[in-house]
Amino acid sequence: MRCAYAARQDPDDPLSGLEVGDLPEPETPDGWVRVQVRAASLNHHDLWSLRGVGLPADRLPMILGTDAAGATVDGREVIVHSVIASPGWTGEETLDPKRTLLSELHPGTLAEQVHVPARNVIDKPAGWSFAEAACLPTAYLTAYRMLYGAAGVAPGQRVLVQGAGGGVATAAILLARLGGAHVTVTSRDEAKLERARALGAHDAVASGTRIAPVDAVLETVGEATWAHSLRSLRPGGVIAVAGATSGPAPSADLNRVFFRSLRVIGTTMGTLAELAAVRDAMVAGGLRPVIDSTHRFTDDDEGTTAVRTAFERLASGAAYGKVVLTR
Ligand SMILES: NC(=O)c1ccc[n+]([C@@H]2O[C@H](COP(=O)([O-])OP(=O)(O)OC[C@H]3O[C@@H](n4cnc5c(N)ncnc54)[C@H](OP(=O)(O)O)[C@@H]3O)[C@@H](O)[C@H]2O)c1
Repeated sequence: MRCAYAARQDPDDPLSGLEVGDLPEPETPDGWVRVQVRAASLNHHDLWSLRGVGLPADRLPMILGTDAAGATVDGREVIVHSVIASPGWTGEETLDPKRTLLSELHPGTLAEQVHVPARNVIDKPAGWSFAEAACLPTAYLTAYRMLYGAAGVAPGQRVLVQGAGGGVATAAILLARLGGAHVTVTSRDEAKLERARALGAHDAVASGTRIAPVDAVLETVGEATWAHSLRSLRPGGVIAVAGATSGPAPSADLNRVFFRSLRVIGTTMGTLAELAAVRDAMVAGGLRPVIDSTHRFTDDDEGTTAVRTAFERLASGAAYGKVVLTR
């Protein structure tokens, strides 16, 4: 089966461990379904796996990819939910201490086929392309839960989104506007700020700029923006944190946290119900995911080049929105 996989790991040169080739197709376990992948979007998670973060080396080679849209064997067009709970777990799946994402324990989505538990698929919206649908399972699900689960953002509240261009950040701009929030976005790059304004951000300012106090911050950048996130909150405000691209260990600035009664809430991915909710909210609101670029993952040399180009685009940090492979 043609796939893109982590063959090796290197913290400093993640793309050196990326291979495109044929690996045996896994069996479909009882109670699981096979999805013919029509599109798969890339995430920073794939780079972390290639760096050796979150993917033990003894699981290599591992097919990468957490996001897919495709068709089941009976022709149902679906979006894949990437959070795989452990057998017997009955609670909220993101709270299962043994839960994994596709490509962490079970083979990922950058392949002709992916296998998931039968409950882990929802219908693709009619009229959406597979490329659009493949953007939802990680970035849009995470942004939705950060906004409306972790931070509990209400209409009219002020929200700060750090880092304008990422998949989560672009999703957050769209979804925060949909919920009636006032949205401020930061970036180190003026061109991305311009695109954030065009996408609907009320204010788009250079990283670190002093802004009017906000009710909530969506933080995925980490060390580079954490101090600014804390400084930007009103007393009693909340930071929802789901990532740390620039580093995981900033100063906690505890004095500020308790003097101003700030809340810091971690959150990861979301439930199957939340994936359906963000899909339905976007359909009802007439929104489509922001796609930076699509790359055709064919089974020949051109397909191999396309996969490498897509990963280079993701790793460059220049993307605005999602980088998607189509089949
Ligand atoms: N917990 C979860 O469930 C979950 C889900 C999805 C993503 N994540 C994590 O969230 C993070 C974001 O992922 P993503 O795919 O949306 O995008 P990404 O490619 O990691 O980058 C998003 C933004 O981060 C900003 N950035 C990166 N390095 C920076 C630095 N040194 N200083 C300031 N800004 C910097 C960039 O903003 P500018 O260039 O505009 O300044 C970029 O647009 C990743 O670490 C990912 O692993 C976690």
